[in-house]
Amino acid sequence: MSGVVLVTGGAGYIGSHVCKALAEAGHRPICLDTLEKGHDWAVRWGPFERGDIGDAACLEDVLSRHRPSAVLHLAGYIEVGESVSQPERYLHNNAAKSDVLIDAALRHGVDVLVFSSSCAVYGLPQTDLLAETHRIAPISPYAESKARVERALAARSARRIIPRPICCRSPPTPRSALAPTLPCWARTTRRPTARASATSCM
Ligand SMILES: NC(=O)c1ccc[n+]([C@@H]2O[C@H](COP(=O)([O-])OP(=O)(O)OC[C@H]3O[C@@H](n4cnc5c(N)ncnc54)[C@H](O)[C@@H]3O)[C@@H](O)[C@H]2O)c1
Repeated sequence: MSGVVLVTGGAGYIGSHVCKALAEAGHRPICLDTLEKGHDWAVRWGPFERGDIGDAACLEDVLSRHRPSAVLHLAGYIEVGESVSQPERYLHNNAAKSDVLIDAALRHGVDVLVFSSSCAVYGLPQTDLLAETHRIAPISPYAESKARVERALAARSARRIIPRPICCRSPPTPRSALAPTLPCWARTTRRPTARASATSCM
């Protein structure tokens, strides 16, 4: 990975720390964020680009000017309970807009794409310890939006369009704890039939 890294959601909770770690490791983090949930004061480690990952023109501009070799994709909505009451908003912002970002990154020859997924994609655990091979069975729109991006990356990786996609399935913090309404959503939603095969778990 060369020095310039685009960090989507870089003004958020995790993204700002990612930018700090990148800068401390000698990289140049470019923060792309709408600030809808993030904070401008948290952007201290490199240039800030205010924009939306679903805005193709903005991405074209940012990628052309900064020419990152890697994209760390953390932008998204993160409230599981809210995703149950507003599923389309989550699927659009987290999944559909990620497609725009992935395509733009590919057009610009980005070599590494790291996606901040979630262990929520596993749904209800079948085992005490979750291995990467655990079945993918999201039970919330939030988790489904993450699974969709994983599938999009896996599909492009299988066709060798993306050299190195990595999906990090982190455990949730208490603020994204499962909402009691989840089983309702799970009963009315078709589960994905494919699972990402080109992922790494960190
Ligand atoms: N916090 C956790 O425990 C946890 C666990 C697993 C996965 N994750 C994932 O990690 C990522 C970061 O989580 P966080 O806790 O830092 O959340 P956060 O809300 O603090 O940060 C997300 C950032 O993304 C930005 N954003 C949202 N939609 C955007 C869009 N369309 N275009 C540009 N920017 C947009 C927001 O303004 C915000 O700054 C998320 O994708 C989340 O799903 C978080």
